[in-house]
Amino acid sequence: MMKAIRSVVAVLAGVILSTLAMASSNSDEAIRERIQPVGSACIQGEECAAASGAATASASGPRSGEEVYNASCGACHGVGVLGAPKKGTSDWAPRLEKGLDTLLANAISGINSMPPKGTCGNCSDEELSAAIEFMSKF
Ligand code: HEC
Repeated sequence: MMKAIRSVVAVLAGVILSTLAMASSNSDEAIRERIQPVGSACIQGEECAAASGAATASASGPRSGEEVYNASCGACHGVGVLGAPKKGTSDWAPRLEKGLDTLLANAISGINSMPPKGTCGNCSDEELSAAIEFMSKF
């Protein structure tokens, strides 16, 4: 009788232990599952880092008209070197009559002593246009 009880207890204990073991392996799995999204978030994070790097690059992309002017155009257009229309003066009046599109086209290809792209080789059309607008206001 005692033997029978002991073996029942042993079986119960075995069931309980294996249930606990399963439970703990389940919770390990659960933990792994909970960790995995973090792991993939890390991978996504790297992609995100690259993407946000690109976003940062494009955010800092187009320079303002003032920046382009200061870096590339001011040397001539500040004081009117070689007859360049001076920034913020009525020198621009007859130029503006041609329309901004023509001024931009001439700035891109160069005109007389005005070098192509005003020496800003890596300037986009947008940046050149912003620089023209910046210096032609008077
Ligand atoms: C090396 C001197 C020099 C630099 C640098 C320079 N320019 Fe000029 N630019 C000139 C001269 C000279 C003219 C007058 C050309 C002419 O009409 O004979 C001129 C004219 C212009 C015109 C008028 C064009 C037209 O059709 O009347 C624009 C627009 C212009 N420049 C834009 C720029 C921009 C934008 C930059 C900078 C990115 C720049 N320039 C840099 C010398 C320069």
